Amino acid sequence: MTLPLQAVVLAAGKSSRFRTSTTKLIFSICGQELVVYPLAVLTTFSMPICVVVGYQQERVRASIAKARFPSISFVEQQEPRGTGHALLCTKSHWSRDHILVINGDMPLITKDIIQNLINTHITSHATITFVVAKASDITQGYGRVIRENATIKEIREAKELLPDDSHRYPDLNAGIYLFERTFLEEHLDKLSSHTIAHEIYITDLIKRASDQGKRLQTIEAPFTTIQGINTLKELHAVEQSKRTELIISWMERGVYFAAPDHTYIDINVSIGPGTSIGAGVHLLNGTSLGSNCHIGPFAIIDNSILHDHVTVLPHCVINDAELHTQATIGPFAHLRNKTSIGTQSTIGNFVEVTKSTIGTQSKAKHLSYLGNAEIGSHVNIGAGTITCNYDGFAKHTTTIHNNAHIGSNNSLVAPVTIGQDALTAAGSVITENVPEEALAIARTRQVNKEGYVQRKKQRIAALMSAKVASL
Ligand code: UD1
Ligand code: CA
Repeated sequence: MTLPLQAVVLAAGKSSRFRTSTTKLIFSICGQELVVYPLAVLTTFSMPICVVVGYQQERVRASIAKARFPSISFVEQQEPRGTGHALLCTKSHWSRDHILVINGDMPLITKDIIQNLINTHITSHATITFVVAKASDITQGYGRVIRENATIKEIREAKELLPDDSHRYPDLNAGIYLFERTFLEEHLDKLSSHTIAHEIYITDLIKRASDQGKRLQTIEAPFTTIQGINTLKELHAVEQSKRTELIISWMERGVYFAAPDHTYIDINVSIGPGTSIGAGVHLLNGTSLGSNCHIGPFAIIDNSILHDHVTVLPHCVINDAELHTQATIGPFAHLRNKTSIGTQSTIGNFVEVTKSTIGTQSKAKHLSYLGNAEIGSHVNIGAGTITCNYDGFAKHTTTIHNNAHIGSNNSLVAPVTIGQDALTAAGSVITENVPEEALAIARTRQVNKEGYVQRKKQRIAALMSAKVASL
């Protein structure tokens, strides 16, 4: 049986316990904003989703827009007057018979928990079904489920707990509820503000339902899956759990990590089997690694595609780049801005490549800057070569055809084209196109002044003896 269901995500709160002057909901865990996590789970169920926004709502909306979920609607809570009030703001959007409500600050939530909640709500015919977790030493700041003789009476918020409550009532309120809509319609706008916090609590609906003799049902989830984030310290703890979970899932798919505790992988990264990853590596922002790649320590790879058998030596920074099979990069190389490195090509130490395409089996092994360059196959770029791509007004292209050989310490002043099989002499400043198979020498001819040093020494010696004589 399916339930006529819709979801509400609460994301309008002030995040005062974060103390950052920024809403916590746009902080990231493994590259994904907190508010996106529950949405990613909910969008796997086909139901309308409405997000309540308010505090710094432009930023929350922008994070959600970036995730490109289909059809999410927004409702504004003008002032953060509590979770109950946030839900009340969505009233005009209620169209289904059952309303699933979830806090926006619980990124470890899983699809299984939501499915279990829905199934239990169906089978129990409860007015409210909600998720609980068992308390432990680290669980502070949660509401407790107060039961009398196994009957649920209320949720008592952390601020209002009596000294003995924590021992007597081990169930924490997770912050995920499934309500019958008719119950909400009758009771939600009757909740009153709490005197200490001046807030309307969604959790007061539990007491109201209990007082009315309505059926209440709970499901239990491990605390690690429902942990909420109220402080930066909790953000850190949850990020560690998420990171470990991600790394273990890649290990299970054949990825080797030299230092799993010191590796940072975004949630939207993919890695092929047989790839090994060194200490301190960051794989960010949709990066995809093929199989049998080797990523050396301290490489940062952002929004890039690495095909199979690519080697990245230590300390490389790679942004918006594509590296084809068996390419070798680094150590200390910087690739960026739509750069493509061809099959079996090598980019060596202290080489920066930006907005350039390099063909197969080409090499730039030492100390170069290649910007706006179109480089063919089997090209060799000598150490210290610079493409002078910017004239102060615009960027220009350097084109180097197949098999060309650029001598060391060349300046290639763009726009300029080096023909196929051409050579350029070391130290050249190339300002004109070089025809194919030509040798270009663009430097002043060397002059050797024979005996120069000896003559200089003699002049100095003569000067010194004249000085001594005059004393
Ligand atoms: C809430 C529950 C608590 C539960 C805990 C689980 C209430 C009153 N208490 O407490 O029982 O154990 O979650 O993590 O609900 N929000 C709004 N508008 C507001 C206030 C909050 O949209 O006016 C949003 C927040 O942005 C947040 C969510 O509601 O995403 C929960 O608010 P938060 O202040 O974190 O509630 P807790 O104190 O954690
Ligand atoms: Ca919270």
